[in-house]
Amino acid sequence: MEFSRIFMISCSVLLLCSSLAYVQAASPPAPVAMSPTTTPAPAPAPAYVNLTYLLSVAGPFQTFLDYLESTKVMDTFQNQANNTEQGITIFVPKDNAFKALKKPSLSNLSDDQLKSLILFHALPKYYALADFNGLSAKGPVSTLAGGLYTMNFTDDSGTVLLNSGWTRTKISSAVHSTDPVAIYQVDKVLLPEAIFGTDIPPTPAPAPAPDISPAADTPSAESKETGSSPKSSPSNSSSHRILNLSIWCQLVLAVLGGSVLLR
Ligand SMILES: *[C@@H]1O[C@H](CO)[C@@H](O)[C@H](O)[C@H]1NC(C)=O
Ligand SMILES: *[C@@H]1O[C@H](CO)[C@@H](O)[C@H](O)[C@H]1NC(C)=O
Ligand SMILES: *[C@@H]1O[C@H](CO)[C@@H](O)[C@H](O)[C@H]1NC(C)=O
Ligand SMILES: *[C@@H]1O[C@H](CO)[C@@H](O)[C@H](O)[C@H]1NC(C)=O
Ligand SMILES: *[C@@H]1O[C@H](CO)[C@@H](O)[C@H](O)[C@H]1NC(C)=O
Ligand SMILES: *[C@@H]1O[C@H](CO)[C@@H](O)[C@H](O)[C@H]1NC(C)=O
Repeated sequence: MEFSRIFMISCSVLLLCSSLAYVQAASPPAPVAMSPTTTPAPAPAPAYVNLTYLLSVAGPFQTFLDYLESTKVMDTFQNQANNTEQGITIFVPKDNAFKALKKPSLSNLSDDQLKSLILFHALPKYYALADFNGLSAKGPVSTLAGGLYTMNFTDDSGTVLLNSGWTRTKISSAVHSTDPVAIYQVDKVLLPEAIFGTDIPPTPAPAPAPDISPAADTPSAESKETGSSPKSSPSNSSSHRILNLSIWCQLVLAVLGGSVLLR
C-alpha cells in the first residue's frame, strides 16, 4: 500500500517534470531566430522617426548634431525620413572623430562646403547592414550631397568599409536600423574629394594596408562579436535551464519520497 502510493506520486512528478522540460526545450529557438536583426525594433510601426532624439540619446554625437542644426541639414534629413519611400541612411561620426580630425580642417570651409560635407554623410535610401554587400559591386554611390559627392563601399566579411578617397573607415555599430531610417556609427569624419580634391596626401596612418587593418582595429572585433554572440548564448542558457530543471525535479522527488516514508 505505502509503496504503491510513493510509486504513484513519484511517477506523476516525473511525468510533470519531463513535460515541463520538453516545453522548455521546445520554446527557446524563437529568440535565436530573431537575433540577426541589428537593433531591437522599439514599436511595431511608428511612421515618424525623430532623428534629433535618436542622435541625442546615442553617441555622443553632439558635434555632428550641432553641425546638422547650424547647416539646417537636419531638416533635409528629417524630410527625407518623413516623406520619402526610399528612406535614409546616415553615417554618424562620434565627437572624438571630429576631435581627431587635424590635417584637413573643417574650420576654413565655406558655409556651402560645410553643408555639403554634412549632406555627404547620408544616402537617399534605407540600407540594412546586409544590403551593403550588394552595394559593393555598384561602384561609387551617390550621397545626399549629390553630384560628385560619391563614396565607395566594400563588404569585408560582414564589416562594411567606406572609402571617400580622403577617408577610409568602417561602420562600427548600428544606432538604428528599421526601414525607412538607418543610422550607423562610423569611426571617422567623411571627407569628400569634391571638396578636398583628389590630391590626397599619401602620409596618413599605416592603416591602408587592407589585409591587416580590419583585424588590427579593435572596434571591428567588437562589432563582429556583438553580431555573433547573441546566437550562441540563448541556446546555451536554455540547456542550462533544462539541466537546472531536472536537478530541481530530483530534489523534489527526494523530499517527497522522504516525507512519505517518514509517515
Ligand atoms: C524630437 O526630439 C527632440 C529631442 O528630444 C525634441 O526636442 C523635439 O521636440 C522632437 N520633435 C518632435 C516633432 O517630436
Ligand atoms: C516630420 O514629421 C514630424 C511628425 O509628423 C513633424 O513634426 C516634423 O515637422 C516633420 N519634419 C519634416 C522636416 O518634415
Ligand atoms: C584652409 O586654410 C589653409 C591656410 O589658410 C589653406 O592652405 C587651405 O587650403 C584651406 N583649406 C580649404 C579647404 O579651403
Ligand atoms: C570608387 O570606385 C571606382 C571604381 O569602382 C574608382 O574609379 C574610384 O576611384 C573609387 N573611389 C575611391 C574614392 O576610391
Ligand atoms: C556556452 O557557450 C560558451 C561560448 O559559446 C561555451 O564556451 C560554453 O561551453 C557553453 N556552455 C554550455 C553549457 O553549453
Ligand atoms: C542553473 O542555471 C543558471 C543560468 O540559468 C546557471 O548559471 C547555473 O549554472 C545552472 N545551475 C546548474 C546546476 O546547472
